[in-house]
Amino acid sequence: MLKGIVLLILHVFCDIALAGQCGKVWVTVSSLWRPIAASDKVVDAELEVNWEFDCPADTRYSDTQIKVFTADPLAAHNKMIKPELILTSLQRPRGYYRTNITVGRPPLPGGWDTKDGATLPGSHCLDYYAILYKDGHMFSMSCLQIWPTWMYDLRREIGMLPIGSLMIPGTHNSGCYKHGDLTRRDAFQRYLLTQDRDVWTQLVHGIRYLDIRVGYYPSIPNGTALDEDGNHINRFWVNHDVIRITPLSEILKDVRDFLDVARGEVIIMDFHRFPVGFEGRPNRHRKLLSILHREFEGLILKPDRGIEGLGPTLNDIWAGGKRLIICYGDKHTVNEYDWLWPPLTQVWGNQQTVEGLFEYLDEEILGSKKRRNSQNPLWAVMAELTPFPLDIFFNLSGGLRQMADSVNRNLTVKFQEEWWKETNVVATDFFLGNDLIWVSRISNIKKSNIAQWRL
Ligand SMILES: *[C@@H]1O[C@H](CO)[C@@H](O)[C@H](O)[C@H]1NC(C)=O
Ligand SMILES: *[C@@H]1O[C@H](CO)[C@@H](O)[C@H](O)[C@H]1NC(C)=O
Ligand SMILES: *[C@@H]1O[C@H](CO)[C@@H](O)[C@H](O)[C@H]1NC(C)=O
Ligand SMILES: *[C@@H]1O[C@H](CO)[C@@H](O)[C@H](O)[C@H]1NC(C)=O
Repeated sequence: MLKGIVLLILHVFCDIALAGQCGKVWVTVSSLWRPIAASDKVVDAELEVNWEFDCPADTRYSDTQIKVFTADPLAAHNKMIKPELILTSLQRPRGYYRTNITVGRPPLPGGWDTKDGATLPGSHCLDYYAILYKDGHMFSMSCLQIWPTWMYDLRREIGMLPIGSLMIPGTHNSGCYKHGDLTRRDAFQRYLLTQDRDVWTQLVHGIRYLDIRVGYYPSIPNGTALDEDGNHINRFWVNHDVIRITPLSEILKDVRDFLDVARGEVIIMDFHRFPVGFEGRPNRHRKLLSILHREFEGLILKPDRGIEGLGPTLNDIWAGGKRLIICYGDKHTVNEYDWLWPPLTQVWGNQQTVEGLFEYLDEEILGSKKRRNSQNPLWAVMAELTPFPLDIFFNLSGGLRQMADSVNRNLTVKFQEEWWKETNVVATDFFLGNDLIWVSRISNIKKSNIAQWRL
């Protein structure tokens, strides 16, 4: 009985209660895919188990083990559940294992699968669990989880922090995903997709910064559909460079729906570049902005440099009720609208190797030359590799999925151990391959402790 209660408490508070201990297990989703013989389908989104030991040298334990479950092993009705996989002889101090358990695109728990229904605040587990045992004792437990309301959940801890000092998890090229199952044909378009979850799902998981590049296409498709203000909304697309991927309307709807149900969350939409159809066409910017204004009326937070140039605090934002920040990457247009935030600086290294990227980020985040824009309290670290244009031709880097896989695990470690303090926004590819949403939450709690200590 007592054991049951202790387990229950551990379960509820696991990510906080165990954070301070010297061993941790967590699960991620691989960005890689494998072909299936004689089929157009592929296997993707497989579960990965990660672990880390940073115990003092005199800690004694002889035996460590991780059990992986595809249902909640602590739920009363699952008492007899068998692990799907048992890992032994764990490599130290850290390691990972790619399972062949396919996560796919499961329904989101807590009512978050629908875009308008009742939704439960707090974090919720999907059906993937891992437990780390040391000498037979349960030591750390984790699940694949969503944090749809993490900002407001942490209001007591982080409410007094300005938005420019928070660590905010984001995605790079947020709109470059595909609906439904991946096929071989998509998988071979190795350099177009940067995400494998739609924007709604990204936000439900805990992403709060969206990097968006917009193209304008006057003649495709169905150019006749007009909105109330006479704008051709279907002509705006989210692009990856010069290629259009997703209709912009789809992303705007996801953001709007999320803001409507998650009433304490703050979202940053960064309209960063306009690669097709905007050059020398200020009217197209105005059309886009009239769409944004109509879609998000009443939710748009006006630019505010706050105290010390770090922007308003979360408490300020909640008090005003306007929770959408729109940054706009065209400096002429920004001057015409008092509700647009100035272009946001993205620290982007154009790096092709893991070592190159980490060296660059070390320098940018910890070094003295901080290329931040004093006009905008926000700035973003772009933590992904970039292929050479010729790689795309000759397929030397194996595609964006492989590139994301080669950096995502190291990013979790570096941000958790070294970079968290200096970081504002961090945007990655295939974000479920790293644990930066968890790291951001924990880092913001640490930042608030530092801030309180200073007062
Ligand atoms: C998954 O891997 C295990 C070994 O780890 C193997 O026994 C099993 O057959 C594999 N399942 C599939 C569907 O490939
Ligand atoms: C035009 O819109 C209709 C209905 O919205 C759709 O069925 C059709 O596929 C669209 N045409 C093109 C070329 O996208
Ligand atoms: C990435 O992580 C691996 C495994 O921990 C390590 O061997 C490697 O040196 C790391 N790379 C960088 C650039 O930090
Ligand atoms: C591209 O590279 C990947 C891995 O390096 C390889 O598996 C794939 O077959 C290559 N594709 C083409 C079209 O050459």
